[in-house]
Amino acid sequence: MPANDYSETAGQYGSAEFVGVIYLAFRDVPALIAEHVDGVRALDYGCGAGRSTRLLKRQGLEATGVDISGSMLAEARRHDPSGDYRQIDSGRLPFDDGSFDLAFSSFVFFEIPSLDEMARVAAEIRRVLRPGGVLILLIGADELYDHEWTTVKVDFPENRTRRSGDAVRVYLTDIGLELVDYYWTDADYRQMFARAGLTVERLHQPLGTPADGIDWITEDKVPPFSLYVARK
Ligand SMILES: C[S@@+](CC[C@H](N)C(=O)[O-])C[C@H]1O[C@@H](n2cnc3c(N)ncnc32)[C@H](O)[C@@H]1O
Repeated sequence: MPANDYSETAGQYGSAEFVGVIYLAFRDVPALIAEHVDGVRALDYGCGAGRSTRLLKRQGLEATGVDISGSMLAEARRHDPSGDYRQIDSGRLPFDDGSFDLAFSSFVFFEIPSLDEMARVAAEIRRVLRPGGVLILLIGADELYDHEWTTVKVDFPENRTRRSGDAVRVYLTDIGLELVDYYWTDADYRQMFARAGLTVERLHQPLGTPADGIDWITEDKVPPFSLYVARK
């Protein structure tokens, strides 16, 4: 079972913008793509309400969004009526081998309940990447569950005793939505990439700076997110 059922909350999630700590999560994505990716064919795996897909499109990429949630996809199409959004089963992609130069996936893999399933999904993403294509995975860092952040609260008792694979809770203050995720460590993600045949060439953990113009709480000292760049 995926961690969250968005059938009732897709509209709420769809109103989420790049504010507070979420701004920081995506801030360096354009620069990472410019540095590591050649080509314009992009897959947004777990596109949700399409916020991440629209970000890719604004960067000039031809982006296709896929997701298991019909409600989320309806929300994505509402924001971007001419966009290409498709419903899939987990880890089953209706594309030929080598169809994409970039696969991007933000805040998805911590909704997958087992390492076996994560490796299976990552291997399917690898299949649709061209040789030399890149997967950029944006996900919570270990430290996400240990501190207070501008727009994410994580002070729940179960987060303090978390171990790999446990459920953890986050509250998104800007849209008033509580989500349950699975806690996966850096070692878990690296194991997943290795099992899927993808080579991690970079781990980027953005830190807030004064130039962001946001009153950071912890974000300028401790990185809340991890961005893995992995190549086929
Ligand atoms: C927290 S939302 C993130 C959406 C979007 N990427 C963003 O950053 O705004 C997570 C999305 O992942 C989708 N999802 C969860 N498990 C999935 C899986 N195994 N395969 C594809 N999508 C999945 C959910 O339906 C949901 O739309």
